[in-house]
Order: sequence, then C-alpha cells, then structure tokens
Amino acid sequence: MKTAFDEDQHQLATYKKMPIAAERGAGVWIYTNEGEKYLDLYGGHAVAGTGHCHPHVVEALQKQAATLIFYSNLVYSEARARAAEKLVSIAPTALTKVFFCNSGTEANENAMRMARMSTRREKIITFSGGFHGRTADAISATFLGKYREIGKPNVPGHVEAEFGNIDSVRALADDTVAAIMLEPIQSMAGVRMAQPDFYRSLRELCDERGIVLIYDEVQTGVGRTGEWFFASSDAGANVVPDIVTLAKALGSGVPVGACLVTEAIASQIKENDLGTTFGGGMLAMAAVTATLEAIENDRMLANVNRVEAYLRSRLREVEQVKAVHGLGFLLGIEFNDKAAPVHQNLLDRKIITGTSSNPNVLRLLPPLCLTEEHVDLFVKALA
Ligand SMILES: Cc1ncc(COP(=O)(O)O)c(C=O)c1O
Repeated sequence: MKTAFDEDQHQLATYKKMPIAAERGAGVWIYTNEGEKYLDLYGGHAVAGTGHCHPHVVEALQKQAATLIFYSNLVYSEARARAAEKLVSIAPTALTKVFFCNSGTEANENAMRMARMSTRREKIITFSGGFHGRTADAISATFLGKYREIGKPNVPGHVEAEFGNIDSVRALADDTVAAIMLEPIQSMAGVRMAQPDFYRSLRELCDERGIVLIYDEVQTGVGRTGEWFFASSDAGANVVPDIVTLAKALGSGVPVGACLVTEAIASQIKENDLGTTFGGGMLAMAAVTATLEAIENDRMLANVNRVEAYLRSRLREVEQVKAVHGLGFLLGIEFNDKAAPVHQNLLDRKIITGTSSNPNVLRLLPPLCLTEEHVDLFVKALA
C-alpha cells in the first residue's frame, strides 16, 4: 500500500519537509493521516488566510466547480466580474483596475512589465532582503541569499538598495529607473519593517522622478496585517503605491495572483500586452470572492488586531523572546539564540511554525481566525 511519504520516490527533492502528512484541515487545525492534529501557525506558507476549508469558501468552490470550472479571458464571466469588483472595492481608492494571474511570482513579473511599459524605462530597484519569486525577472529582483545565483543568468537592469535607507534609493533613482519594488514588510528576511517615513519618502521620490512604486503584498495583502493591505495603512504612512501585487491568501489555497493598478498605469496597457491562460478562471475567481467575503463576514481584520495585541502581551512573559517584529499576523519572534530548535520543539508539541533567513527569528503566519485560546496553547508550548 502507498503511504503519503512515498511521494519522495517520485517527486524532486526540492523541499525540506516536516515529517507529517496533511490529510484534512479545519480552521487553524491540520489533521494528519494518522489522526493527529496540529495547530497551524504557518498557514501553509501564508496561504490559509481564511483558515483551512472555510465553509463559505468550500461552498462557493463546490458550486462553481459544478457550474463551470474554467474558460479563458476570451469570454466574459460573472464570476470574474464579481471577483474584480470585490477586490477593487476593498483596495485603496486609487487602485481601480486588476489583472488576474496565478501566483505571486507571476504577479510581480507582470507588475514590472507594466512599469517598464508605462515609463518606457528598464531599470528596477529592489531591496536587500526582499523576496519576489522564482521566475526569471522576479528572482533577478530578489537580493536575498542564494536566489539570484539559482536564477542565473539574471535579467539585466536590476539594482539593489538598502531596505529602510532612503539615501541608498535616491542614489540609484535616475531617469532610467522604471520601478521601485518592495515587500513593505520583508518576510523571509526575518520580518523586517521600515519606519513610516521610509515609505513616505519612497512615494515622494517616485512622484518626483516619474518612477512606478510597486508593493509586493503577496504576503502582507488580503488582511494579514490587520488591514486589507499594507498600502494605505498607518504603519505604511498611508502611502498608496501605483501597483500592488497579491497571491497566497487571495484564493484560500486555490492558486491565484493579481496586480491592482492605478488608472494611469491601466491606461498604458493595451490588448495583448499581458496574458495568461489560467488567470481569471472561474474556479479561482469564485475562490477570490468567497475569500474576501469570509474575511468580511467573520470580521477577521478586527480579530487579527485584537489577537495580535494579546499574542504580543503573552510573549512578554517568555524570557527567551528578545523582540517581536512585524504587524498583525505576520510576526517574527526573535530569540537570543537559534530559532530552528524552537521550531522543532514546537513541531514535537504539534504546533507548526516557520523559520526565516534570520537564524534567530521564528515566523508566524497563522490563519486570520486564530483566537486567544490558540495563542495560549502556543505560549504554553513555547514556555
Ligand atoms: C513576498 C513574496 N513575493 C512573491 C512570492 C512568490 O510567490 P509564488 O510562490 O506564489 O510565486 C512569495 C512567495 O513566498 C513571497 O513571499
């Protein structure tokens, strides 16, 4: 008989896996094929924003699957119209148009392409520590660890500035620069956030020099920070970029990505400039609408804000915790020592967390429906 672990026989060994086989999910819980349950504070890589198998999302997917799973962008679709309208309705008011694709890396590729098309310039400034995906242009924009090396030969025209240091950006922002792109909170780098002034200065610099500002909100978007988007949040000095890219939690696990853009960018994009077979498919669109509705109906943004405050206060009781970085449910817990053994110990106690490229930082990216009760379980295990 096959067991789940037999997938190693036929799959490329590209991931260091946890020794558990996920079979079923409900809310913040993952159940294994051996009937054990794990508290999921990693959200399947920040994807399970609404939690696992949210009933409203499941119902919408079942209904859409039985109606029409897919047709391409060559026809109109009510499911697509509803998803686009809903997404734009919760976005900062300046972001009025959307392009749907299938993943985060693809959203970033398309965002950079739109920036180059609308400015007729080529250079892209990104930041040390930022992660933007693994396709050619996105990996070339990723100045973190070995990623650019893996992506060789890199796409030309990518330059690196220092996150949080506006002078380092100014020095590079000449009239050949099409876009400045950033993760407003650098997640993989260990959950690094800049001061509000940095985001404000980026906006001013872009306005002054005709540069497109792109926020990669693949992780921070769709409610994770306790706001729908980091864009226009107080923590981000209410700055609205020209393009916001999304994926991960947008479809509650159904693959979908999106670029939200201003009218000014949209007006530069013509027929056939961008395209994708699967982007905007009906099943994914039903997932987007249901995801956003579930977050709204269950008042998950308020939940994130309340439970974040509780989690921070409880973590103050844990001696080994040096600092807590991030916002909402994108949190980096910094220890005086290495985080990997903590991650392993928590896993032994049936709690899934994440690590980061900062060896001392444990990352939490839980579903937005996490409650105080779950926090208590986590803090008890941590202590
Ligand atoms: C900030 C950020 N951007 C882009 C990506 C790439 O997204 P995907 O894996 O869906 O291509 C990720 C994935 O981890 C991410 O965290």
